[in-house]
Amino acid sequence: MYRTHTCGELRASHAGQTVTLAGWVNRRRDHGGVAFFDLRDRAGTVQVTINPDLPKETLDRIADVRFEWVLQIEGLVQKRPEGMANPKMETGEVEVIAKSVTILNPAKTLPFMVSSDADLPDENTRLKYRYLDLRRESMTRNIVLRHKVVKFMRDYLDKQGFIEIETPIMFKATPEGARDYLVPSRIYPGQFYALPQSPQQLKQLLMVAGMDKYFQIARCFRDEDLRGDRQPEFTQLDLEMSFVHRDDVLALVEGLYTAMLPAVAPNKKLLSSPWPKFSHHEVVEKYGTDKPDLRFGMELIDVSEIFAKSEFKVFQSALSAGGVVKCIVAPKSAEMSRKEVDALTESAKGLGAKGLATLAITAEGPKGTAAKFVTEAEAEAVKSKTGAKEGDLILFAADARAIVNKVLGGLRVILRDKLDLADKTMMAFAWVVDFPMFAWNEEEKRWDAEHHPFTMPQLQDLDKFDTDPGSILSDAYDMVCNGYEMASGSIRIHRRDIQNKIFQMLGHSDEAIQAKFGHMLEAFEYGAPPHGGMAPGIDRLVMLLADEPNIREVIAFPKNQAGRDVMADAPSEVEPKQLKELHIQIRE
Ligand code: AMO
Ligand code: AMP
Repeated sequence: MYRTHTCGELRASHAGQTVTLAGWVNRRRDHGGVAFFDLRDRAGTVQVTINPDLPKETLDRIADVRFEWVLQIEGLVQKRPEGMANPKMETGEVEVIAKSVTILNPAKTLPFMVSSDADLPDENTRLKYRYLDLRRESMTRNIVLRHKVVKFMRDYLDKQGFIEIETPIMFKATPEGARDYLVPSRIYPGQFYALPQSPQQLKQLLMVAGMDKYFQIARCFRDEDLRGDRQPEFTQLDLEMSFVHRDDVLALVEGLYTAMLPAVAPNKKLLSSPWPKFSHHEVVEKYGTDKPDLRFGMELIDVSEIFAKSEFKVFQSALSAGGVVKCIVAPKSAEMSRKEVDALTESAKGLGAKGLATLAITAEGPKGTAAKFVTEAEAEAVKSKTGAKEGDLILFAADARAIVNKVLGGLRVILRDKLDLADKTMMAFAWVVDFPMFAWNEEEKRWDAEHHPFTMPQLQDLDKFDTDPGSILSDAYDMVCNGYEMASGSIRIHRRDIQNKIFQMLGHSDEAIQAKFGHMLEAFEYGAPPHGGMAPGIDRLVMLLADEPNIREVIAFPKNQAGRDVMADAPSEVEPKQLKELHIQIRE
């Protein structure tokens, strides 16, 4: 037996027991003939004391032991003497007095220290030696948390009557708005599998198959621009249910997350329960984005009416062009320096604004870039409409409605970070519903599906297909939290005629529809049940629960920011023989 206990589990109640431990040397200190090793395994770290009364042969061997050597230690658990307990260690009440020490494996000097988070190297070095990086306590904690989240999901859904079903990784392109990763076929020259951007089609076909309630911890593959919350492969809790309306799906997932939070992350608080539900229109008007951070206020307020007769050219020209004037109030920011306001103005321009007008409410009256253009009556009206008080700074954007929302929505998040407005322990979950069905693709001059083409349009809007497609709402929904999109889903089309109509709207020819989605359309003709589902992203959830700034920190082996696996060095070239078998020729 290599060990009787884990290092991390030892407590005062183990005192008097002889235990065998196996683990890594996290730290070594030598004090007047006595050596102290902190021995570490996944469960934690415990202090091992090596007294000079051990046989000389053992002491000689131990003399060489350094960081990260792998040892087996048999010893007696002892309560530490009065006043010597270490409250910073979970095992800090005890120490293990070594009786024998076996060196299981020495270690070279590591490229970086793993016994603490201090002096971390750059991310690529961490990723190159990810197997060492993961030894760090904080990374181990993230991976264990991820396990707990997934385990909770599995157990909860099992109790709710869901079954877990695996679906193929080698499949056919399913549109989710990204590029596909393709797998060339050796047997069929010139033909390719596509890795699924999500199991969307398959889970719908499982509903046609009568599986009723399906879930899967599903890997998805998308070739798209990477960001902190985006990896080329990532994991969803993919689920689908038959005979449900929107609110059945939302209630299931809200119930799951509400029960999960105290079980896996008791340090986190839910902002509200039940979760608020906003229409897409409402949320964009109030927060300037479809994934608002609700942990703080600072809503966008429309002040167009107040400035209807304004002399301020900037406001006047926006309004007369059919645009709007909206503002946000930054609390206690009237004293912001010129330099800070300039930086905000640059950010606003980066978001598409022509400029940024400000009004600082001070004891000496309004100041800021808009002060000389705004009348006293207008300033008073704005104060009363927004509730701005002395000491606050009002920031205005005047432009087309969509630009104004985007600019102020972006500034709201910048100000959140600058003014530290969001409580980091809070999880502000909310639902966003009633999305538009289509989004106009200006580049390609055609309609795109706002969610995906299998989403049910709202039935009252069905007659707007030929007249006003942009105003058709869909039965799609998102879960948002703290400014991130956490999940998407929808009630699906289960009728062939509507599905066909959507594909046509999206500009697919009849032939293309048949070639790409013929199997789906045919399936819908054999008694497809009404169904709907959702796919919460697991990486983003664990990122928020672990207080990490990006999802790479909660994935065991992520790609780096440039999409490479720097540990194994992938992607990489392959043997000419392999290419030949796959009928692939590399063009210079
Ligand atoms: P969608 O494409 O919106 O919907 O994805 C659902 C959720 O998956 C997560 N996610 C990602 N996480 C990390 N890296 C990525 N590149 C990435 N892309 C998406 C997000 C997102 O909210 N089939 C539909 C779901 C459905 O309709 O049931 C789908 O995949 O958290
Ligand atoms: P100007 O009259 O162009 O000097 O602008 C006066 C102030 O209004 C400056 O602080 C500009 O940054 C700001 N501004 C210009 N265009 C806009 C706009 N579209 N919305 C809000 N503020 C603007």
